[in-house]
Amino acid sequence: MATNAVAVQGDVKDMALADQGKLRIEWAGNSMPVLKTIRADFARRKPLKGVRIAACLHVTTETANLMIALRDGGADAVLCASNPLSTQDDVAASLVRDHGIPTFAIKGESNEVYYSHILSAIDHKPQVTMDDGCDLVTILHTKRQDVLDSVIAGTEETTTGVIRLHAMAKDKVLRYPVIAINDALTKHLFDNRYGTGQSTLDGVIRATNVLLAGQNVVVAGYGWCGRGTAMRARGMGANVIVTEVDPTKALEAMMDGFRVMPMREAAPIGDIFITVTGCKSVIDGRHFENLKDGAIVCNSGHFNVELDLETLGKTARSKREVRAFVDEYVMPSGKKVFVLGEGRLINLAAAEGHPASVMDMSFANQALSVEYLAANYKSLDKRVYSVPADLDRKVAAMKLEAMGARIDVLTAEQESYLGSWSEGT
Ligand code: ADE
Repeated sequence: MATNAVAVQGDVKDMALADQGKLRIEWAGNSMPVLKTIRADFARRKPLKGVRIAACLHVTTETANLMIALRDGGADAVLCASNPLSTQDDVAASLVRDHGIPTFAIKGESNEVYYSHILSAIDHKPQVTMDDGCDLVTILHTKRQDVLDSVIAGTEETTTGVIRLHAMAKDKVLRYPVIAINDALTKHLFDNRYGTGQSTLDGVIRATNVLLAGQNVVVAGYGWCGRGTAMRARGMGANVIVTEVDPTKALEAMMDGFRVMPMREAAPIGDIFITVTGCKSVIDGRHFENLKDGAIVCNSGHFNVELDLETLGKTARSKREVRAFVDEYVMPSGKKVFVLGEGRLINLAAAEGHPASVMDMSFANQALSVEYLAANYKSLDKRVYSVPADLDRKVAAMKLEAMGARIDVLTAEQESYLGSWSEGT
């Protein structure tokens, strides 16, 4: 457990880290102008006055800025980690000490502590849940149904969580409306693509110091995260191979200029493997046995199920940690395979996650959606909703303005043309 547990205010690793966390939260805030504007507006209007929020998000400098904006909007919010390995301990300490936001998160916590932290956040009896991966919502709907009656609505950050929520809605077990933040254009086109693209390579490089130029980089999955990762790996000079199960996405990868093949064929060719599929056992026991000596394997999808590390652990002759976030497995053949970050999302395990400038848009969507839910929950059904299109566009317009860009405006004649069907060539 924690070395420095704070009974009521949360459970963090070490309060002595708070000074550093405070500075880093401020630094990230400098690159989050949209959230800053929303925070100032929230502070004036207090649209979340008294709303109890439990947020289960990656505890990073960017998330801290979101939590502060919600608090300034009047919310009574607590935070727990959405992954055992993504917490920035200095941020958690500063949130508790400097910002009065109870935080339950310790980097490297066991699964047991991870779930106990979610339960602590649920003890706050939230009216609104904010989730990243759907673990908070799942625990509420299974182990803590006693708290469900007070929940009015929720948000979900990521692709994996949205998929789980749709499954819950289909099974008719979802007990309150949830907005899928990931569906907003100003979320997935930027966070998933440019955020994951950059931060994943950042994680691989920080963990290994490998040179990407000339390497065969295998990207499993060509959703928005895969597109971004493949694009950025190519930008660093890698020869990128894409693996897919969806023919349309595979075709898109081919026409984007990447080699496409099944993982079985990519396994003996790749130097670096990055999974971003949201699926399980994408690199399985047989693939591991066929890898080149020295292959580097990691995951940047939400859950640590994309690499079958259980089978690898059973097959390997030995395993040892050779650098922070790098485990060396020696295979029966004597070949070595290096697995990064225990198969957990490498961008948050070994690096700092997506840069603040892109989280600015994701978290602007979060803040505006929470405000929307607090005002409109009574008219919503128990299902998954997209971010209202006007909020999505507002975030884009605010970000453009913050970036100093201006765009054209339709003339009256153009508007009428776009709204009519009678005019041809
Ligand atoms: N997901 C990916 N990067 C993140 C970040 N920097 N903060 C919170 N969630 C994230």
